[in-house]
Amino acid sequence: MRHLISPQDLSVKELEDLIVLAKDIIANPENYSEKCKGKKLATLFYEPSTRTRLSFEAAMLNLGGSVLGFSSADSSSAAKGESVADTIRVISAYADICAMRHPKEGAPLVASMHSSIPVINAGDGGHNHPTQTLTDLLTISQLKGRLDHLTIGCCGDLKFGRTVHSLINAMSRYEGVKFVLISPEELKIPTYLRTETLDENGIEYKEVRNLEEVMPELDVLYMTRVQRERFFNEEDYIRLKDSFILDNSKMKLGKPDMLVMHPLPRVNEISTEVDNDPRAVYFKQAEYGVYIRMALILTLLEDAKKSKEA
Ligand code: CP
Repeated sequence: MRHLISPQDLSVKELEDLIVLAKDIIANPENYSEKCKGKKLATLFYEPSTRTRLSFEAAMLNLGGSVLGFSSADSSSAAKGESVADTIRVISAYADICAMRHPKEGAPLVASMHSSIPVINAGDGGHNHPTQTLTDLLTISQLKGRLDHLTIGCCGDLKFGRTVHSLINAMSRYEGVKFVLISPEELKIPTYLRTETLDENGIEYKEVRNLEEVMPELDVLYMTRVQRERFFNEEDYIRLKDSFILDNSKMKLGKPDMLVMHPLPRVNEISTEVDNDPRAVYFKQAEYGVYIRMALILTLLEDAKKSKEA
């Protein structure tokens, strides 16, 4: 049974196949409107979400399938102490595929070990968010026309921001990609990512504190929210939350064809005045999330069918 737990579960070729399929879905949505007729997607969300859960649900509905699930741990039997392993055994009898978000790192991996349906990690703690990365790759591919030879600036909470961790893991596999990591000292990327992904693969990167000084170098600026829910104390969050605020004066320093991306939700880190700049593509990015999740659901269900037949 094939699952998607981390971006490395997909080869570069498989990433490309998903992007090609998503682009065909964008161009010819009518060809896909009944592809999942009779199939069910379960969305098991133990943590809040707007985009990921609803774009998964929209994706399955666009494919002609149905959806079921819960949107908080409190409204599921997790509140009574049920384990993820038991929950997924039960859900395997109710649905054909599931997307799981959980505050504990590794929970979707545990679920995949006890599941007889494909499990998709829809975000696990401060660890990974592979379908956000698929969304980001589709956005960059559509709007820049390539995924290689890009300088990508990641700005904000690089310690707890799982979307950045997954993006660095995925983009490190493309030729000529460089990273500029912009964060306060306390919110730098985790050591394992620096050593196991960037250093080990000889990826060019630098870590800086100042956004303005690197703006002219960037092809993509990936802004992130400071993740309040992962801080151990509120004082640290308040001290760090407004470390970087992108506004029109900073946008003047960027290349004319730079993309400003953000996984959303945004708090203060991008001033709303930036929304009208044609380089601000974060709402378009959220829209692309539906198409790439359609491609992923189709691909994993096809793989599951083949593995059952084998
Ligand atoms: N980008 C993202 O994961 O958004 P949600 O938390 O709203 O799902």
